[in-house]
Amino acid sequence: MSTFSQELLEKLATAKSVGVLTGAGISVESGIATFRGHDGIWKKFKPEELASMDAFLKNPELVWEWYEYRRQIIYKVKPNPAHFTLAEMESCYPEFTISTQNVDGLHALAGSKNILELHGNILYNRCNQCGKKFKDTGYEKGKPFQYCNCGGKIRPDVVWFGEPLPAQELEKSFNVAAKSDVYFSIGTSANVYPAAMLPVEAKLYGAYVIEINLEKTTLSGQVDVSFLGKAGEILPEMWQAVQKYKNKKISI
Ligand code: OAD
Repeated sequence: MSTFSQELLEKLATAKSVGVLTGAGISVESGIATFRGHDGIWKKFKPEELASMDAFLKNPELVWEWYEYRRQIIYKVKPNPAHFTLAEMESCYPEFTISTQNVDGLHALAGSKNILELHGNILYNRCNQCGKKFKDTGYEKGKPFQYCNCGGKIRPDVVWFGEPLPAQELEKSFNVAAKSDVYFSIGTSANVYPAAMLPVEAKLYGAYVIEINLEKTTLSGQVDVSFLGKAGEILPEMWQAVQKYKNKKISI
């Protein structure tokens, strides 16, 4: 059981604008591996062989198979208490936005509405040329390239190495960070930029920054408070403590 300071409870009880950055760690308790942890995806596969345009053009079958493998995992998993708590929190603040590096769609499945997907969504494909999105036009064995009406190649709707992040989502995320009263960094190693800059930006603009991660990260020294443990345990406990704190304040 974690303990939460009066300062943290007061900040969360009075905040008007809350921003959140999430990473692979928030989906671990749902059964999805991280990128850099002990069982991390990048420990088993080389990113440049699977998650880049070069890889897709050189070995499309391998890239599609890898994405299909990950999709099959994601189709089977469910949001966990950390996702559900964020969805509940959204309904209690005038402004609440999640910027996620995850492509698994679990925030939406948990009921969150205001989500900025910085690295795309693995459950979709898109045209490489005109950007049109496709839900179903995917990989067929022996037919590695599917084409859009415009002639472009259809590919997974995720951000690959060497590609820019979606400009609108990124700009909105930085705006959120700059105006947040409280900002969370949850389950991210804070190694991949520019997303890793968001909590730092929030701190620079005066937010109270809370980190939740199994272990210390490069961010830990820069935040107001860093909780070491599972997001699916700490976040619901924290939110319950905030409700108790608010009720106590009302009854005084
Ligand atoms: P990482 O795999 O780099 O980091 C996951 C973090 O989650 C680690 O710091 C873990 O300690 C932490 N963690 C694991 N289980 C946890 C739990 N139950 N509760 C809380 N924290 C937990 O994943 P990201 O930071 O999301 O990009 O990686 C960022 C980007 O790197 C990914 O979006 C992906 C990758 O390259 C692209 O594919 C473009």
